[in-house]
Amino acid sequence: MKKILFVASEGVPFIKTGGLADVVGSLPKYIDQENFDVRVILPNYMSIPRQWKDKMQYRTHFYMNLNWRTQYVGVLEYQYEGIWFYFIDNEFYFTGSKPYGNIYEDIEKFAFFSKATLSCLPALDFRPDIIHCHDWQTGLIPVFLHDSFQENEFYRGIKTIMTIHNLRFQGVWDKKTVQDITALSGYYFTPDKLEAYGDANYLKGGIVYADYVTTVSNTYAKEITMSFYGEGLDGLMRARSNSLRGIVNGIDYEEYNPDSDALITYPYNAKNFRKEKIKNKRALQQELGLAVDDKVFMIGIVSRLTDQKGLDLIECVMEELCAEDTELIVLGTGEERYENLFRHFAWKYSNRVSANIFYSNERSHKIYAACDAFLMPSLFEPCGLSQLMSLRYGTVPIVRETGGLVDTVEPYNQYESTGTGFSFKNYNAHEMLDTIRYAKEIFHNKKREWNKIIDRGMAKDFSWSTSARKYEELYELL
Ligand code: GLC
Repeated sequence: MKKILFVASEGVPFIKTGGLADVVGSLPKYIDQENFDVRVILPNYMSIPRQWKDKMQYRTHFYMNLNWRTQYVGVLEYQYEGIWFYFIDNEFYFTGSKPYGNIYEDIEKFAFFSKATLSCLPALDFRPDIIHCHDWQTGLIPVFLHDSFQENEFYRGIKTIMTIHNLRFQGVWDKKTVQDITALSGYYFTPDKLEAYGDANYLKGGIVYADYVTTVSNTYAKEITMSFYGEGLDGLMRARSNSLRGIVNGIDYEEYNPDSDALITYPYNAKNFRKEKIKNKRALQQELGLAVDDKVFMIGIVSRLTDQKGLDLIECVMEELCAEDTELIVLGTGEERYENLFRHFAWKYSNRVSANIFYSNERSHKIYAACDAFLMPSLFEPCGLSQLMSLRYGTVPIVRETGGLVDTVEPYNQYESTGTGFSFKNYNAHEMLDTIRYAKEIFHNKKREWNKIIDRGMAKDFSWSTSARKYEELYELL
């Protein structure tokens, strides 16, 4: 039985700011429990809801050095849906209303978290064969493990995997401060190790020292070896390409199941969506105060409102997008500029635009169930999960051809009657608009074709069943 430890800065259902949390919360359940003992370790943020905090049990505590600092490390535990979750407790670092804050604070916070994770393992009596690290917040783990932890026999031979969910965020700060926090010697702060462009870079450290590197789709794995998507680390990605692999994300098919989803008003499935799905559309139109109209083309957006997600394209053609026969529903928070854009249009076209500038899991399910199409014109997209949720709910994705969107959405071909969605190539607002208009035209004038697109989308399998096997293969390989 191989022991695997997932280490991440967020995980569903405890704490979520993005797709990382969905992956960390769902993938462990789908790894074969007969052959693998998978556990997860997360920070015990103050912002984790009371409902979960009340369930956590004290396991152990000790004090740990972070160079000249001495810090308390508590460990809490809770078994959820068969998986053991550990929570590193420290009120100084994990305070505040959100997991992340100022980068200079986060830099120390996650150095602490990474070292505490390694340090607590003997006390948990859990010696993982593999530590599976996710994103920059855990990048120091392979580095620490390579360094002073080697002195202790317990740690020798533990392998590491670094999974990149988003190469844009790397955890970068000046070398002197990072050295003062980590107590790593000057040896590590050179351009072939932690240093990048003069600064210390946590993710780079993780990529250099991990035994294997993965990212969350095949296309993104290729893209990041090139300069446009490489975020300054494409050279390193090329250097590691022999131990770099893309494994496309899945979603939790139990949580996202239109046939049994308690959060939506009218359940439906691949057989009866033609009659039943539309009831969700009417219900949401009513709930959000939009014109109740079956014929209007209803587009959903559930997203962090940032440049990554292609929001500037939407901004550019917002007026044309909100045409007479279209409704637009947005859910999410992010850059003020985009929050205000949607608020403004919701005011201007109150019967066809709905701006939900907050995050609500329940509302997101209702949007997936109600909308005709889902818009995701990302500038870059390591995998993307909401297009998978849309496909599962028979909501046709309209995406830009980048990263995981290429691997999961097959463009409609009217001559061959194939495809599960619509896509466009260039990062260009009018190319996006043309694609949306084309989709709308099929929706309005070729309803049978439209429904067949939905048929094909709902028949796809983006549960973890395939990808979890690929992680298992990798665990066996190491
Ligand atoms: C990040 C990426 C997204 C990916 C998710 C989970 O949020 O931006 O594309 O789906 O991580 O891996």
